[in-house]
Amino acid sequence: MAQPADTTIYGIYAREIINSRATPTLEATVILQSGYRGTASVSTGMAIGKFDCQELRDDDQNRFDGFGVKNAVNLINATISNALRGKPADDQSLIDKTMIELDGTPNKSKLGANTLLTVSHAVAVAAANARLTPLYTYLNAMYTQYHQTEVKRIPTPIFNIVNGGKHGAGNLNFQEFQIIPASNKTFPESYQMGVEIYRATQKILAFRNAGQSVGDEGGFTPNLFTNTDAIEIVLEAIKSSTYQFGIDTFLGLDLAATLFKTDQGYLIKDRAAAYTTKDFIQYLKDIHAKYRILYLEDPLEENDWFGWTAITKEMDKDTLIAADDLIATNKTRLERAIREKACSAILIKPNRIGTLSEVFDVIALAKKNDMKCIISHRSGETNDTFLADLGVAVQADYVKFGAPARGERVAKYNRLLEISTQLFTK
Ligand code: PGA
Ligand code: ZN
Repeated sequence: MAQPADTTIYGIYAREIINSRATPTLEATVILQSGYRGTASVSTGMAIGKFDCQELRDDDQNRFDGFGVKNAVNLINATISNALRGKPADDQSLIDKTMIELDGTPNKSKLGANTLLTVSHAVAVAAANARLTPLYTYLNAMYTQYHQTEVKRIPTPIFNIVNGGKHGAGNLNFQEFQIIPASNKTFPESYQMGVEIYRATQKILAFRNAGQSVGDEGGFTPNLFTNTDAIEIVLEAIKSSTYQFGIDTFLGLDLAATLFKTDQGYLIKDRAAAYTTKDFIQYLKDIHAKYRILYLEDPLEENDWFGWTAITKEMDKDTLIAADDLIATNKTRLERAIREKACSAILIKPNRIGTLSEVFDVIALAKKNDMKCIISHRSGETNDTFLADLGVAVQADYVKFGAPARGERVAKYNRLLEISTQLFTK
């Protein structure tokens, strides 16, 4: 790594920008004494549960339906900038600790997780720039202090092909129908595969007149009779391509099941009566037997701990049971999941927790306990590509950035292509 220029923070300037879902969000630029700078912006999810750290929004109904972030901008430009001025940008834990103490609440409700994360990421980008080193290399050196990790591969992408739930205007309950290239593929091979199967899906939907408009994460949002019909369509798309199902590519689902859990049980359009937890696990086992689902994200509701332990015990041998809303990238929830053997993989969404140091801490704990890690976007995104570098830096098993379409999604996949070229082209 090159000798760093002066990384002392000179100032921080924030702006209110707009994300991919027409909602305001934050962007901040950190300027160092040496003149180097780093910029970052944050995403927003649809699932914001009680275990998530809080975003700071203005609640001023006269602007952006209350979603403005002018107060957060002012906090960064004054309070946070004053607190961090003169501190070294390459001491990330000091930077994050200072902001966490300034906030002083368990869920970052005073300054907002969006406020802290924008600055936390921008500081890291500025420090990497000052060292004239790629961001993934800089982040890897930092992450190694939590868990020794060498950069050897690009994480396998999980591509969203069909969107349902709250992300799509169609009528499906499950949030994402995904394809997952085999882990022995190079990233360019996987990316090409994702694009070709995505395009094949579009042709099938057009042929069936089922609707080809896309949802928040770039997947198609058709109207179909059942959720399994969407699985069939993606499978048909794979079969119509040059790739072999079960060898080159696999299927995955993000059910986001909290959204269709009712007082009566899990209620989906595939059956009139709601399923009990036990019956729903059986339904998923039947789907798995038929379609060999490699990856099941949020198959059960975020507080159905008993069900999570049961499904992991019964299905983990052949399917990854991935916890997104269950853990909410929260260390205490992760510790419980480890104790109760409630899942075999964890989604890492930095804006659910608020600072880079805490993200590293959660990833290291998960990895030391043999959980697979998926670095994940949110449904409301910006063109920021920080997550691509983060995925490589911590050697995540998978990354999930949405469909291989729409600017804010492909910005991240394209950044992985660039990293792949830097790492593997001699
Ligand atoms: P989100 O969900 O809407 O909460 O960001 C995204 C996901 O699970 O991929
Ligand atoms: Zn999810």
